[in-house]
Amino acid sequence: MCIPAYPEELVYDAVKQLITVDKDWVPSSPGTSLYVRPNIIATEPFLGLRPANEYLLYIITGPVGPYYPEGFAPVKIMVEDTYIRSAPGGIGDAKTAGNYAASLKAQVEANEKGFNQVLWLDGRERKYIEEVGSMNIFFKFKEELVTAPLGGTILPGITRNSIITMAKDMDLTVQERQITIDEVIDKIQSNELEEVFGSGTAAIVSPVSVLHYKGQDYKISDGQTGPLTQNLFDQLIAIQYGEAEDPYGWMEIIA
Ligand SMILES: Cc1ncc(COP(=O)(O)O)c(C=O)c1O
Repeated sequence: MCIPAYPEELVYDAVKQLITVDKDWVPSSPGTSLYVRPNIIATEPFLGLRPANEYLLYIITGPVGPYYPEGFAPVKIMVEDTYIRSAPGGIGDAKTAGNYAASLKAQVEANEKGFNQVLWLDGRERKYIEEVGSMNIFFKFKEELVTAPLGGTILPGITRNSIITMAKDMDLTVQERQITIDEVIDKIQSNELEEVFGSGTAAIVSPVSVLHYKGQDYKISDGQTGPLTQNLFDQLIAIQYGEAEDPYGWMEIIA
């Protein structure tokens, strides 16, 4: 985006100061949290096509409940085989508004058909799994937990990283590799796909009950939350709420 990088320490310190000011807004009931959203916008009074010379970094916080109205209940996902969100050589791995602008029409159409989000396929062939509208995605096959590799077209989610770390510690075989939608459908049909879940800061760990592809609904885990999904959700939440030991150094007490 050609935006100069702010020093990480400065941004982190600003987040901590704001949370200290806003500490009374941190909700305490289960499933709630204080969402923290740093933003950067160009503020230079100029019209024209070049990177800006002036930017404003600001941070918004807000108390939030569960991301999906269903809470931790499984969500239904539509596999998007028309629109694309990003392409190789593009900006798909950046948390930038343009990527979300490109996703809105697909999202609206999926919602109108009764699905919570879309699952993006790769921009070149519409063949490889990428990620969901606001989550990375994991597939539990019989022998392995698989997620799409970071190749520049998907967001390198922090929750994706946490899930990979925790799953490896559970002695699961975790693979970051290309997965075709055909492999997923084949493994649903041969009962080798046990669970599907999304991961994201807002959604945490979100079980997927249905994948809709080319006009057909494919039910996952009998429409229920699978044991691995539940386990990873419980573990991550327990660390986040300070109810379990944090062996990874992810937690910091701020106020
Ligand atoms: C497109 C997209 N992918 C993945 C994620 C998950 O990223 P993270 O775990 O860092 O929240 C998000 C989260 O907002 C997202 O918008």
